[in-house]
Amino acid sequence: MYKVLSCFFLFWVGSHADQYTNPIALKAPDPWMVYYNGSYYLVATTWTNEIGIRKASKLSGFKDVENTVVHTIDGRVMWAPEIHLLDGRWYLFYTACGSNTQGNTSCHRNHVAQSASDDPMGPYTFLTDFVDETLDVQELDPSYIIINGQQYLLGGYISDAQNLYIRPMANPYTPTGPKYFLSAATYDWEKQTSSANEGPEPLYHDGRVFVVYSACSCNTADYKLGLLEFVETDPLNSTHWHKHPEPVFQRSDENHVYGPGHNGFFKSPDGTEDWIVYHANSEDTQYGCDMGRSSRAQKFTWGDDGLPVFGVPEATDVSYDGPSGE
Ligand SMILES: *[C@@H]1O[C@H](CO)[C@@H](O)[C@H](O)[C@H]1NC(C)=O
Ligand SMILES: *[C@@H]1O[C@H](CO)[C@@H](O)[C@H](O)[C@H]1NC(C)=O
Ligand SMILES: *[C@@H]1O[C@H](CO)[C@@H](O)[C@H](O)[C@H]1NC(C)=O
Repeated sequence: MYKVLSCFFLFWVGSHADQYTNPIALKAPDPWMVYYNGSYYLVATTWTNEIGIRKASKLSGFKDVENTVVHTIDGRVMWAPEIHLLDGRWYLFYTACGSNTQGNTSCHRNHVAQSASDDPMGPYTFLTDFVDETLDVQELDPSYIIINGQQYLLGGYISDAQNLYIRPMANPYTPTGPKYFLSAATYDWEKQTSSANEGPEPLYHDGRVFVVYSACSCNTADYKLGLLEFVETDPLNSTHWHKHPEPVFQRSDENHVYGPGHNGFFKSPDGTEDWIVYHANSEDTQYGCDMGRSSRAQKFTWGDDGLPVFGVPEATDVSYDGPSGE
């Protein structure tokens, strides 16, 4: 009886969820996604001076939509865009070289633009470069985190090593201090092929605050995700963060998924499920950190210890139930 009922239940749930397959979008590295007002919005790296958004009502819908340009920057080589809704406007954080830095390999800095209204499709107006005179080095991968009501910019920087930083903010475009060191590659699994911490992403659950980040170079199949948790009182003090000793998401040779990383998080339309969006390659060849990487998405859960359980990166071209409430 129980078996019959549970089979029926599974069938019932399955028949109501829309199916999708990975990848959800091609040529979409460093993906970041939000579900808002009935649609998903996906932003990703273009390597150009244009920032685009793909908008779809279902996870399976991105394959058919254009990457609509929402902002053209005064610069080039745009990486790692994200949009965050703060005080009724969208803030578009991104990495790019300035217009006057042709040929300068350390030209990348983090920047922010602001939407005219609460429409994620913009238009966006450039607001500021996050110049930090105290450590004016290459920056990348901006994100935004709120801890105990205080706002912080997250990002990566490259000085003697490729590290993560956290910077106190009065609002999304006004830093109140310099960047503070947050994390460096310390474990062997963060140093395969090349040593790096990048792509920090906020994750909140049950009153706990996490930063999920990418480790190793995006140039390798060993690119993967690690986990930091804020465990004490001062977010600007790196010793107040605990790094999980093991990676939390990495390559699956069995599923032919290589270099999964540089992710974002989003909720299902009904708000009950947690989902991760990330990029990966389908072959164990060195694609480089280029536009060959595709966006993939999958549901994740939480363990009894309160930590996220991302599981194994799912194989491509297999149908899965889409987010609840589609
Ligand atoms: C490269 O850009 C950085 C930051 O804008 C600047 O400090 C440095 O002088 C530039 N180097 C060259 C060779 O132009
Ligand atoms: C929200 O969705 C409704 C219905 O599609 C639309 O009329 C409205 O413009 C949307 N608002 C924003 C801010 O996107
Ligand atoms: C960081 O936190 C540690 C442990 O609480 C403390 O000993 C140290 O003084 C703090 N550093 C700064 C710069 O506040």
